[in-house]
Amino acid sequence: MSAKTGTIKIGDKSVEMPVRSGTIGPDVVDIGKLYGATGAFTYDPGFLSTAACESKITYIDGDEGVLLHRGYAIEELAGQGDFLETCYLLLYGELPTAAQKSDFDYRVTRHTMVHDQMTRFYQGFRRDAHPMAVMVGAVGALAAFYHDSTDITDPTQRMIASMRMIAKMPTLAAMAYKYNVGQPFVYPKNDLDYASNFLRMCFAVPCEEYRINPVIARALDRIFILHADHEQNASTSTVRLAGSTGANPFACIAAGIAALWGPAHGGANEICLQMLAEIGTVDRIPQFIARAKDKNDPFKLMGFGHRVYKNFDPRAKIMHQTCHEVLKELGIKDDPLLDVAMELEKIALNDEYFIERKLYPNVDFYSGITLKAMGFPTSMFTVLFAVARTVGWIAQWKEMIEDPNQKIGRPRQLYTGSPRRDYLQPDKR
Ligand code: CMC
Repeated sequence: MSAKTGTIKIGDKSVEMPVRSGTIGPDVVDIGKLYGATGAFTYDPGFLSTAACESKITYIDGDEGVLLHRGYAIEELAGQGDFLETCYLLLYGELPTAAQKSDFDYRVTRHTMVHDQMTRFYQGFRRDAHPMAVMVGAVGALAAFYHDSTDITDPTQRMIASMRMIAKMPTLAAMAYKYNVGQPFVYPKNDLDYASNFLRMCFAVPCEEYRINPVIARALDRIFILHADHEQNASTSTVRLAGSTGANPFACIAAGIAALWGPAHGGANEICLQMLAEIGTVDRIPQFIARAKDKNDPFKLMGFGHRVYKNFDPRAKIMHQTCHEVLKELGIKDDPLLDVAMELEKIALNDEYFIERKLYPNVDFYSGITLKAMGFPTSMFTVLFAVARTVGWIAQWKEMIEDPNQKIGRPRQLYTGSPRRDYLQPDKR
């Protein structure tokens, strides 16, 4: 029993609830016994005040703009490490030693190929299928290819499934892209680092040598680090909820990909670019800003705002810098879309409506522009997000499965439908 408690009084019933403290961050009131003691549920749509689990993986302080993975600041991980190091950290809880790192890199790169029959699975999709639709199907289908990894009670198989997904996700994503553009699939090349291998699988063609640009590869690796995990967001919560039923890990990650696709979540990077294209020229920005402020217009400035960060998103700061590095490297100066993006950023940051509501450009605002400059079509943006987030989903899924207090997720509801009534024969209705 924790020392701190809180009392909840409902009508004439009152109950004392334990208050639990984390290592950092707000305390939580453990309301697990509320219903038994008072007969009442809590009501919190959107989980604005509800912690759905205990976790040791990622910490966010939205007011201060802080993001820590296992205690390490995102700025340090993105500035000094590489993506596979962050993967190791998220999965195992500690940064790897040099030997652990090379062993981990080796194991990931030895799982990059997918079953060759997968190619026929892809051919079942229409060529113009959205690559996120293909990813939901292809990742879910992995359960049909790797039966051995679906035994969630076996810790070794859980780790093999984790390695398989981290390793195969870039291959599946690149295949979704190649299928869409009508080019042959490019097999992974295991002596390349994670980001370079992905770039090659996306952009190499059999008729010429593909040269990796190290600045672009490093920028992509950084994008992967920045998107690796973000505590209990919508897609991660989806993975945890699906996993709480005992569903296999491939099915759970497919569910996470489906949730990520939404425009309020990972889909924002794609929609943001579409919005910039729709705005078209700098002189049209004020009319879109006016629409964003209009309560009667559902339009929102995509790439702005965040549920948790009510100060600057620390990922956006790093992404802003990476974005400029990539544009400089590629010599992109006069891109009208970029002009619109930079002007929009300036105007929104100085507008009372956005200042009052603490609406800043989020990570998707800059990552979209960067990915476009790298040559990815907008439909691939959320796919890249999914590639990076896979490790976060898996780490959170494993943590949940390994938690002795884990139960099936089963939210309650406030029922506002009709009370019980009698069934009437059709002639009496
Ligand atoms: N443009 C204009 N107004 C906005 C925006 C926006 N992008 N975002 C929030 N607002 C307004 C909102 O209308 C509300 O105004 P009021 O107080 O007058 O009613 C106020 O700001 C608070 O917004 P909210 O809807 O309560 O905020 P939320 O925490 O529920 O939503 C959000 C967060 C990210 C869903 C929302 O800001 C949004 O839809 N942004 C655009 C989509 C986007 O870029 N999403 C990517 C998020 S970052 C990547 C990820 O983690 O997935």
